Amino acid sequence: MSDVPRLAREIFDAAPWAGADRATLGVAERVPSMLLPIERQYYVWLAEHWALGVGEIVDLGAFVGGSAACLAQGVARAGRATRVHLYDRFTVNDLAKEKLLYPHGVAPFEGEDALPLVRDLLAPWQASVHLHPGDLTDQVWHGAPVEVLVVDIAKSTALADFVAAQWFGALIPERSVVVQQDFLHDLQPWLAAQMELFADFFLPLAHVGRDSISYLCLRRPTPAEIAQRRLGACDDARLIGLVRQAAERLAPFGIAPRIEAMAALLEAHPSCRSAQELRRASGRGWG
Ligand SMILES: C[S@@+](CC[C@H](N)C(=O)[O-])C[C@H]1O[C@@H](n2cnc3c(N)ncnc32)[C@H](O)[C@@H]1O
Repeated sequence: MSDVPRLAREIFDAAPWAGADRATLGVAERVPSMLLPIERQYYVWLAEHWALGVGEIVDLGAFVGGSAACLAQGVARAGRATRVHLYDRFTVNDLAKEKLLYPHGVAPFEGEDALPLVRDLLAPWQASVHLHPGDLTDQVWHGAPVEVLVVDIAKSTALADFVAAQWFGALIPERSVVVQQDFLHDLQPWLAAQMELFADFFLPLAHVGRDSISYLCLRRPTPAEIAQRRLGACDDARLIGLVRQAAERLAPFGIAPRIEAMAALLEAHPSCRSAQELRRASGRGWG
């Protein structure tokens, strides 16, 4: 094996994004986002310092563009022309408007269509951003190499399998970073199971903020290898076992108890395969 995985671990262990001047965010800071401030700094750093421009950047689950604005800001700071692709339905309901948009300076608007707002918010980076509105499962990736893949959309096993089928085969070995933004969100335990199915292909790199885990692609899976690793083919026991395996593998990050708790939640509600089902089954509100 080359030195790249070891060197990558050294770089990510030092968390250089944490010491970055917040001013590097620039106007990206003004775009509403569900990300924490440290996660925004990480996204800028990834696009500016880790990415070399040898592949495109993909943001799956872009909401109104906050995550993509940080990625595009990093691209702009690096002086590159890398394309940043945003995938989302780009719709917002009244609750999201009240909680996430209006308190951050967005003027009240009628209806659920967020596309005009997203275009407006991302105007500073219009040369690099490409919007792909609609349901993710209606989208087809054109096949170009992907250097940074941000996943904040895999809210069900079916969506997680779709992401792997469309994008894992476009990753660049020993270069591409996959950010599983909601990895430690306990209502999405299948993300841990999925990365365990693909354990031979990825090296865990970093735990950033509260829930986000990043991986370095070590080897590009073939379409057959991806098809053999479908969450949809796992029964309840296999899925729970994989989550427990992930707890062991990721113990060096100090997150094993959180992953164990995710396995326990799935064990209590074994047939759930989406965050919505797990939320309902476990009696959670919408907070
Ligand atoms: C957690 S939010 C993303 C937050 C975002 N990265 C940010 O910086 O604020 C998840 C997003 O996934 C989108 N989403 C969920 N399922 C989807 C689907 N099947 N197709 C398209 N978008 C979807 C939602 O519209 C939502 O904006």
